Amino acid sequence: MSEIILECDGIRQWFGDLKVLHDINLRVGRGQIVALVGPSGCGKSTLLRAIVGTHPPKAGEVRVNNEVTRSPGRNRGIVYQHYSLFPFLTAQENVAIGPMLDRTTLLDRMIRPLHCRAIRKELLAEADALLTRFKLGAALERYPYQLSGGMKQRVAIAQALIMKPEILLLDEPFGALDEATREELQDMLLELYGENQKIKAEGGVPPHTILIVTHELNEAIYVSNRILGLSQYWRYEDEGFAECPGATLIYDMAAPVVHADKPREPEKFVQQRHEIRNVVFAPAERYKHDEYVRFWANDAKANDAKADDAKADDAKADDAKADDAKADDAKADDAKADDAKADDAKAADAKADDRLD
Ligand SMILES: Nc1ncnc2c1ncn2[C@@H]1O[C@H](COP(=O)(O)OP(=O)(O)O)[C@@H](O)[C@H]1O
Ligand SMILES: [Mg+2]
Repeated sequence: MSEIILECDGIRQWFGDLKVLHDINLRVGRGQIVALVGPSGCGKSTLLRAIVGTHPPKAGEVRVNNEVTRSPGRNRGIVYQHYSLFPFLTAQENVAIGPMLDRTTLLDRMIRPLHCRAIRKELLAEADALLTRFKLGAALERYPYQLSGGMKQRVAIAQALIMKPEILLLDEPFGALDEATREELQDMLLELYGENQKIKAEGGVPPHTILIVTHELNEAIYVSNRILGLSQYWRYEDEGFAECPGATLIYDMAAPVVHADKPREPEKFVQQRHEIRNVVFAPAERYKHDEYVRFWANDAKANDAKADDAKADDAKADDAKADDAKADDAKADDAKADDAKADDAKAADAKADDRLD
């Protein structure tokens, strides 16, 4: 099971009489790309702000790496829909400025100019590499007013990533962009996920854990390996409340892993999209708090293995081969009947996985 990097424990948030969040419990594994969806105004941004620490919850705890946190810290980065870059800095300088301010003081800059210049050079090179990777190599020297909306958001994400946050929070980062541009940026997220997988395969620690708020269900399913639904439409009366005590997480399921370089097949997602619409967005259809909260409960191990498996196709082919070989063995030898049973169980698991795919 992957290491838990972020936990929300019984989070509640309210503003005067307005009850926004109720009993939010959440565990996110390192390297997961989690999408958060929910009706407009249900409290998605409020939850993100509680996690990032600018507006800590009135009740409950946020833990990052098992430590309670109630203020912003560099282990969490956030990108908003309308991120304002510094207008007087180029794209490259905009990306380098954060770590520059982090690594040098004003006094440094006054009395140790050579030292600062060396750091600046190193950080500009790092910004160059990051922006080139995000297909902005030709725009390094451009100022924000010379960049399209999609380019600006890519710079903003690079600006967050260069700080190497352990958790990256994205609040409707592509909300203001047109469809084609959104797709490019979605692919960029899938590439970060691909990087996670590559590093994991080499025995390393996946660098990117991402929680992204989006109101677009296709986008949520496409970019994430897990979907959370936050909603005020749940059966609170079953838990003794006369009126809604706030939105809570009522949907938590695995999402199919899609490769950035494979064709998009939205028809494959129809069923899950329908389910999310019904459970999270429909005021008339209300479900129990935990009825669709199954990501860990289902079979945490299986889910995790699945989430770990961007190369699912390859791995599945290997598994299938292994299973075939085992099935042959079982046939060849009656004494191995028990193994065959175990294989059946595996096949059932595999079917369950397929359904999730
Ligand atoms: N600081 C605040 N003071 C008062 N009300 C707030 C504050 N922040 C958010 N709210 C209210 O909380 C509710 C949830 O807001 P928000 O988290 O922005 O929703 P979402 O991001 O899901 O659209 C809204 O009714 C909003 O007006
Ligand atoms: Mg919001």
